[in-house]
Amino acid sequence: MNYISVALHPSHKKENFTCGKQLLDTYLHKQAKQDVKRRLSACFILADGNEIKGYYTLSTASVERRLLPEEIIKKLPPAYNDLPAILLGRLAVSKNYQGQGLGEMILMDALKRSYFTSLQVGSMAVIVDPLDAEAIRFYKKYDFILLPDSGKMFLPMATIAQLFSHGSY
Ligand SMILES: CC(C)(COP(=O)(O)OP(=O)(O)OC[C@H]1O[C@@H](n2cnc3c(N)ncnc32)[C@H](O)[C@@H]1OP(=O)(O)O)[C@@H](O)C(=O)NCCC(=O)NCCS
Repeated sequence: MNYISVALHPSHKKENFTCGKQLLDTYLHKQAKQDVKRRLSACFILADGNEIKGYYTLSTASVERRLLPEEIIKKLPPAYNDLPAILLGRLAVSKNYQGQGLGEMILMDALKRSYFTSLQVGSMAVIVDPLDAEAIRFYKKYDFILLPDSGKMFLPMATIAQLFSHGSY
């Protein structure tokens, strides 16, 4: 499978990365390497040589059944209270490259990895935890649905499958 990102590597210049959101910058500078080492998340980098143009993280997660929309709940077996999902925990593009389509490209890369992972390890949705209203607007553009009470958003894997099962990306 072809992806535009690679796993975070010591040669990547993490400390130079800035996306305009301090939490996401600090995470990459100080925490990402440790999280990867502890298997808390996987971190993927869109790089040009050693320069980081963007990054995202993926982890396993679960979503409570009661938070999902009724039309999805009614198709699920009643025994499942927590549904398996993939958390796209962080996604950011360097300030130097924003507004050039890279955000969409790395989101598609993250969804593609998630889809192919779901064929090996059951996951019925990708969940995101948007930082602020701007991030909510970005994810809404790609049909993520806001989950009530949690601040999280989700996109069913069945929707994502339509993007990748015919090789259009
Ligand atoms: C949000 C972010 C990833 C977008 O990256 P980008 O490379 O600038 O986005 P793109 O150029 O690929 O734009 C893709 C589409 O999203 C829209 N978009 C971009 N940033 C947006 C934002 N902050 N809010 C709403 N829509 C946004 C663009 O207008 C574009 O839509 P269009 O093609 O209809 O014009 C980037 O601005 C960023 O890293 N921000 C700081 C971190 C952040 O907020 N991450 C969000 C997850 S927590």
